[in-house]
Amino acid sequence: MNPKVFIKTFGCQMNEYDSDKMVDVLHSTQGYEKTLNVDEADLIVFNTCSVREKAQEKVFSDLGRVKHLKKKGVKIAVGGCVASQEGGAIIDRAPFVDVVFGPQTLHRLPALLDEGARTKRPQIDITFPEIEKFDHLPPARQEGASAFVSIMEGCSKYCSYCVVPYTRGEEFSRPLDDVLTEIAGLSTQGVKEITLLGQNVNAYRAPMAPMMAGRSEMADLAFLIELTAQLPGIERIRFTTSHPNEFTPRLIEAYGKEPKLVSHLHLPVQHGSDKILMAMKRGYTALEYKSTIKKLRAIRPDLSLSSDFIVGFPGESEDDFNKMMGLIEDLYFDASFSFIFSPRPGTPAANLHDDTPHEIKLRRLQALQALLDTHVKAIGESLVGQHRRVLVEGPSKKDPQEFMARTECNRVVNFAVGPRDPASITGQMLEVKITQAFAHSLRAELV
Ligand code: SAM
Ligand code: SF4
Ligand code: F3S
Repeated sequence: MNPKVFIKTFGCQMNEYDSDKMVDVLHSTQGYEKTLNVDEADLIVFNTCSVREKAQEKVFSDLGRVKHLKKKGVKIAVGGCVASQEGGAIIDRAPFVDVVFGPQTLHRLPALLDEGARTKRPQIDITFPEIEKFDHLPPARQEGASAFVSIMEGCSKYCSYCVVPYTRGEEFSRPLDDVLTEIAGLSTQGVKEITLLGQNVNAYRAPMAPMMAGRSEMADLAFLIELTAQLPGIERIRFTTSHPNEFTPRLIEAYGKEPKLVSHLHLPVQHGSDKILMAMKRGYTALEYKSTIKKLRAIRPDLSLSSDFIVGFPGESEDDFNKMMGLIEDLYFDASFSFIFSPRPGTPAANLHDDTPHEIKLRRLQALQALLDTHVKAIGESLVGQHRRVLVEGPSKKDPQEFMARTECNRVVNFAVGPRDPASITGQMLEVKITQAFAHSLRAELV
């Protein structure tokens, strides 16, 4: 019987992507199959996140919960951003852990497990060998019609509050032909929707592929989108996450030129006060952010926008907070993420004087989330009666008689299938009419 691996993933889509790659590499080298039942696992992997303190601490409580499984020979590995930041300190705190590995060394996990079994000692590898990871990963085993493709890794922006540049290393882009080959391979497996993935995908810069030799300039995200749209079978293109600073005129133009690029953009603004944006080292003003959105909405009036917000950054006054609320009122965001500032060890913002009491930060967060919620609700209601092209993901989670799909703006749509063969519509793009809007989903009927 094949050995089984249980993976618990914390944090962002990059980690979700990396977890899938861990399963692929463990499967191709050691025959592992994924299990959702921790009690039948031979190997337990925690793919961790250290973006906020709570996320970081969660891994140690989870490790305590699986420690007893070591008695039956289960191996335990810790990967991701906490592993990258803490390294050997994880073994000091949890000596029963067998392997500690970073986001850039996940392809070495099978070798680290072997070495651990041979030497009977914990193995630690949190180096940043850059592109090596992608050269050592087997082709993706794709199930659905939607797939993520990592186009760049790391981050060189060094926002003053953020651990990512320290845990994932500096930005580097994957070669253009590698990315296109991966997307072409996915489309032959029935993938119709591609999400180009990275911490700052609009920092993507790669030499032109040999087939385009003669062009001296570097390929950027706009060019990658153009080439992806030309690949047979690809019907929808998304990207995440992009940075307001590198939202170039070429990328804005791509919304006019490329209908396969969805009318939905997740563009983290973080704050609406220039004083705080500067202290965060974001490199743009609120007006510059708004101007980018204005240009995009001139091209795509229906563009749905989502964002990340940090509340209670050191020095945030009531006036600063009101500026953030004003920006939200002006721009109207769809489903977004908002967090109270969490000081992260080793980041410059962790040393800033912070005299705002926690209760005030909490009150601000609640006010901000309430405002965001009213907009999400209004946007949902405005969709009722409209026709939308949706990508069918499969049977609905709540009612297997129904199907679940996603709109371009990333909203979940549930609908009954009627006389059609259910198996024939999974993975299809269909037109539906939205009939009802709920807080987290829409109801629709097939057109
Ligand atoms: N690269 C993206 C960008 O620049 O916006 C975001 C990546 S970050 C991993 C995801 C989100 O976590 C950020 O957009 C930010 O809102 C939040 N975040 C990062 N560090 C944080 C901190 N120290 N405290 C609270 N939230 C934080
Ligand atoms: Fe963190 Fe800033 Fe990089 Fe985003 S751009 S990952 S917030 S340092
Ligand atoms: Fe967390 Fe690392 Fe992603 S800190 S948000 S898992 S890049």
